[in-house]
Amino acid sequence: MARETILLTRQDIGRQIDVVDGIDAIEQAMGAYERGTDYLPPKAIFDVPVGEPAFAACITGMTRAANLLSMKLGHERTNNPQRKLPTTSSWISCFDPLTGELLMICDGTLPTMYRTAAAAAVGARQLARADSRTLAVIGAGQLGRECLRAVASVRPFTRIVVHDRFVEMAHSLVREMSGRFTVPLEVASAEDACRAADVIVTATNSREPIVMNEWIRPGTHLSCMGADLHEKIECEMALLPRCRLFADKIEHALIRGEVSQAVEKGLLGKDCYVGSLGEVINGAPGRRSAEEITMFDGVGIGIQDTTIVRTIYDQAVKQGLGQRIAFS
Ligand SMILES: NC(=O)c1ccc[n+]([C@@H]2O[C@H](COP(=O)([O-])OP(=O)(O)OC[C@H]3O[C@@H](n4cnc5c(N)ncnc54)[C@H](O)[C@@H]3O)[C@@H](O)[C@H]2O)c1
Repeated sequence: MARETILLTRQDIGRQIDVVDGIDAIEQAMGAYERGTDYLPPKAIFDVPVGEPAFAACITGMTRAANLLSMKLGHERTNNPQRKLPTTSSWISCFDPLTGELLMICDGTLPTMYRTAAAAAVGARQLARADSRTLAVIGAGQLGRECLRAVASVRPFTRIVVHDRFVEMAHSLVREMSGRFTVPLEVASAEDACRAADVIVTATNSREPIVMNEWIRPGTHLSCMGADLHEKIECEMALLPRCRLFADKIEHALIRGEVSQAVEKGLLGKDCYVGSLGEVINGAPGRRSAEEITMFDGVGIGIQDTTIVRTIYDQAVKQGLGQRIAFS
């Protein structure tokens, strides 16, 4: 008889795991993926014809370490804030790869934020200067919130600066996080945040550059996570040739990541990435000097979802969390 399926809401997941719990597993998964052990079918991303920018996506992954097949269905609706709804939402189904049993259906939005923020943190752990002291978080939405917590855990930061185009969003995140950190958290303009930063994380859905070239000091590391579609961009294109560039998956990042508009315009070649972050995890050279500017361009890969939902599933089984349903 097939195993029961576990149903988990976003609240269930938020209660059981923390973003910081996922960083090591995501790092190991990104390294293992580059060693060729895992299975990553192509992403399917398509327009939903509703007369305004609307996208749906199916993102799948399977890893040996997780022994799980995950299939995520996601949506993005740019105008949702006007409806008082989040811009992005998703759901993940997890299957036993051998038997095809449906083991879990869960909220995919929080796991997506966790795995993306964990990847941003891995980017900073692998590429930022060891003496980085100021972290700037650009974008105070759901991804920015998790990025702040994850990236702040990988270097001994003494100052955290948050920027959002809606200053109240930035204040709200700073208020929420102030109780969790002993270091000062501040709200700042994009310029002040970037000029002060040793590490910058971008987590917006902007379609205009926010991070300007002249604000970025030598030695800075950027983990750019918000641009996951060709239309989105967070950094001024002139900054990109100054950076030693890494991606999570180069083929995807070239068409949908932070560099994609610069590649289309011919400002950067298709060989602009030095390599993948997974290769750096596996020992390839990352940062080569204290002056180099490094950038990790993360568009998200299915094996990151697989990895994070394995942890969620195991905890749910162990602690008896969520509802159970027998479909047959
Ligand atoms: N790379 C990945 O794997 C991955 C995963 C999840 C989400 N994302 C992307 O990350 C982005 C953020 O997602 P989210 O769920 O946090 O969205 P959200 O709507 O919760 O938050 C986005 C925040 O960015 C701010 N913002 C937008 N434009 C800005 C600008 N020009 N200057 C300053 N702030 C600006 C908004 O005010 C908002 O607070 C989206 O583009 C989403 O598609 C990427």
